[in-house]
Amino acid sequence: MNNQFEHILVEKQNQIGFITLNRPKVLNAINRKMVSEIVSVALQFDRDDDVRVIVLSGNGRAFAAGADIDEMSNDSSIDLELLNQFVDWDRLALIKKPLIGAVQGFAFGGGFELALCCDLLFVAEGTELGFPEVNLGVMPGAGGTQRLTKLMGKTKAMEWLFSGDRMSAQEALQYGVINRIISKELLMEETIKFAKKLTEKPPLSLRLIKESVLKAVDYPLYEGMQFERKNFYLLFSSEDQKEGMRAFIEKRNPNYKGK
Ligand code: CAA
Repeated sequence: MNNQFEHILVEKQNQIGFITLNRPKVLNAINRKMVSEIVSVALQFDRDDDVRVIVLSGNGRAFAAGADIDEMSNDSSIDLELLNQFVDWDRLALIKKPLIGAVQGFAFGGGFELALCCDLLFVAEGTELGFPEVNLGVMPGAGGTQRLTKLMGKTKAMEWLFSGDRMSAQEALQYGVINRIISKELLMEETIKFAKKLTEKPPLSLRLIKESVLKAVDYPLYEGMQFERKNFYLLFSSEDQKEGMRAFIEKRNPNYKGK
């Protein structure tokens, strides 16, 4: 699978699908081809029964230092409108399996936005995150103003987005933007350990939990609860619900099939 791609590395191991951004010389600056490669593999993993969790990371000293400034510097508004590149980012948000980001070094601009597309973020000590677009005469365009505000609230999001300042991993943790901070050396090991834990859970439960949690961000409570309830009922049509409850009653470990 690896050789097909120019800007990412792809691997599948023990039911975990790995996507690694691979332009280390430019700190994994995200060009359009890289986004379409990431999305195409993520969609493949999403339909692959051998993959239960997807891990996204960056090769070298950064997760990603932003969208590729060289690529977009001469674009006009109409070029961007016609390219409609953000539709690829939208597709990433539609991935149904858990997507874990293992982030180290820098996650700036589009790199931070890519990280914010993940369901969980495990971040190496010393990592800096932020939206420096304001220093380039632009602003985030791949969800940054929306996702950061939903995570940390208007007051702090406005401060980070206006200033373009770098947020430390500690600050990101404090404001609920990331899940945990891990030493640089152990980042992948700990991320994989957590991903492995998820591979042992019933995949359909994870899928419908993800869908329901994401709805909670946008739905009023009552509508969200109705949505959750339908998903809860739906799981009673799965073999894994029968297996999970039978295993509990028979005092043994369940064997989930994702059906
Ligand atoms: N685009 C293109 N190239 C980039 C890049 C980017 N976003 N970020 C880094 N690079 C390149 C550098 O040009 C440099 O290339 P050369 O060796 O050929 O000169 C190489 O990566 C290494 O970078 P530095 O020498 O700058 O490394 P450093 O350690 O001194 O600094 C940094 C690291 C602070 C991250 C700095 O590279 C930097 O400020 N990068 C730009 C960050 C940024 O502004 N990101 C936002 C982009 S706009 C965006 O993302 C829009 C959106 O919402 C979609």
